[in-house]
Amino acid sequence: MATRTLSLLPHLFSLALLICISLTQGLNPKCDISDQGSTLQVFHVSSPCSPFRPSEPLSWEESVLQMQAKDQARLQYFSSLVAGRKSFVPIASGRQIIQSPTYIVRAKIGTPAQTFLLAMDTSNDAAWVPCTGCLGCSSSFFASDKSTSFKTLGCQAPQCKQVPRPTCSASACSFNLTYGASSIAANLSQDNITLADDSIPYYTFGCIQKTTGSSVPPQGLLGLGRGPLSLLSQTHNLYKSTFSYCLPSFKSPNFSGSLRLGTVGQPIRIKYTPLLKNPRRSSLYYVKLVAIRVGRKVVDIPPSALAFNPTTGAGTVIDSGTVFTRLVEPAYVAVRNEFRRRVKNANVISLGGFDTCYSGSIVAPTITFMFPGLNMSLAADNLLIHSTAGSISCLAMAAAPDNVNSVLNVIANMQQQNHRVLFDIPNSRLGVSRERCT
Ligand SMILES: *[C@@H]1O[C@H](CO)[C@@H](O)[C@H](O)[C@H]1NC(C)=O
Ligand SMILES: *[C@@H]1O[C@H](CO)[C@@H](O)[C@H](O)[C@H]1NC(C)=O
Ligand SMILES: *[C@@H]1O[C@H](CO)[C@@H](O)[C@H](O)[C@H]1NC(C)=O
Ligand SMILES: *[C@@H]1O[C@H](CO)[C@@H](O)[C@H](O)[C@H]1NC(C)=O
Ligand SMILES: *[C@@H]1O[C@H](CO)[C@@H](O)[C@H](O)[C@H]1NC(C)=O
Repeated sequence: MATRTLSLLPHLFSLALLICISLTQGLNPKCDISDQGSTLQVFHVSSPCSPFRPSEPLSWEESVLQMQAKDQARLQYFSSLVAGRKSFVPIASGRQIIQSPTYIVRAKIGTPAQTFLLAMDTSNDAAWVPCTGCLGCSSSFFASDKSTSFKTLGCQAPQCKQVPRPTCSASACSFNLTYGASSIAANLSQDNITLADDSIPYYTFGCIQKTTGSSVPPQGLLGLGRGPLSLLSQTHNLYKSTFSYCLPSFKSPNFSGSLRLGTVGQPIRIKYTPLLKNPRRSSLYYVKLVAIRVGRKVVDIPPSALAFNPTTGAGTVIDSGTVFTRLVEPAYVAVRNEFRRRVKNANVISLGGFDTCYSGSIVAPTITFMFPGLNMSLAADNLLIHSTAGSISCLAMAAAPDNVNSVLNVIANMQQQNHRVLFDIPNSRLGVSRERCT
């Protein structure tokens, strides 16, 4: 099988002319749909509806490589969490937040309400917004002084014990975090937050006062992890620690992804698999991946590549913030080899971190992740990333990075798109069913 590596940079300019994603279309009128009940519209950060879409149209390669680079940072972060270091499980999970704000939702904070776009992240408990006066923040400030219901929590507040390394300055409960090469200093604060039609009084979050470095993202963060200060813990009476989402494709001009909070309106006929808990990393959603089928063949993967081990952190998590699924090396190689065998096109090329790409279009076999109680079948829209002109198609998965002690399989958001994914924490189970939301 001939493997040819596309040397990217020399080709970027000419290819960019051919295969641009039209990320900079005007705002679609559909973007103004308001959130209703307990359901929030979810949109991709690069979608035509997103104010965070790149201002310059990126070439297809550039956007793919950028997403891969963010994934890499996120995977390193996961790896550091489970490598046995001291871990915190509070509002800002751990000493670092890696935020790949792939999907965003609207929230209102304060009285009168100020509207924000928050990044949705299932692997983080953190909730924070850049506040007015923040030194070093780039945009969208929450004007805490304009909100009559805003309050900074004191050092004596019980929540102050749940943040990492809290400090007391002028009796306010403050804490510091590092984010990549940046640092964040925040006050632990409380205000009402309104999600769709639900108003949540006394919501506890971090009000960012200062950041250094350039890697702090502009949005606030809506962590959907399950730690003590997470949204789920703070709204347990309202939402019963239950939510589901359907993630639209990043190319979607339409606006029909959703985050549904609470038990009302959740699918009834859906298959479930148990969620596993890793006490060392309590906010990650582990599942038990037992096998992977490519076409009709269950591929041969050493059991150790899929085994759950809370001590080393090994196993499989489902994550909304990683873009492309990563499998530990032996699992990935088995899947990729069978995939290549079935595609029957010997001209395999690579692109960035993807090693199974083809010129022109291909017919992909279905890949099925098999869990106890649930098979999650992925068709072409979840498996292939295409250049817009159709000149290159890649299998949108990769081996876990080998420069970190990586033992974790991550089922990422591209593979979850157009599925309803239901997190039922009280019953410790995850439901998945096919649903078009693109
Ligand atoms: C915020 O909460 C306070 C106290 O519950 C309430 O009086 C106020 O109306 C709320 N504001 C909004 C915008 O919901
Ligand atoms: C955050 O806390 C500091 C003291 O640590 C205080 O000077 C500042 O005003 C606080 N900010 C807000 C928005 O409450
Ligand atoms: C947190 O950051 C602030 C502002 O950068 C700094 O003044 C303070 O000393 C830091 N506190 C800790 C505990 O690192
Ligand atoms: C978007 O919605 C319009 C009108 O509802 C429909 O005609 C079009 O096919 C949709 N596009 C996609 C990519 O789903
Ligand atoms: C998953 O697929 C396998 C066949 O490959 C089948 O034996 C099993 O019953 C399926 N599981 C569920 C829950 O449908």
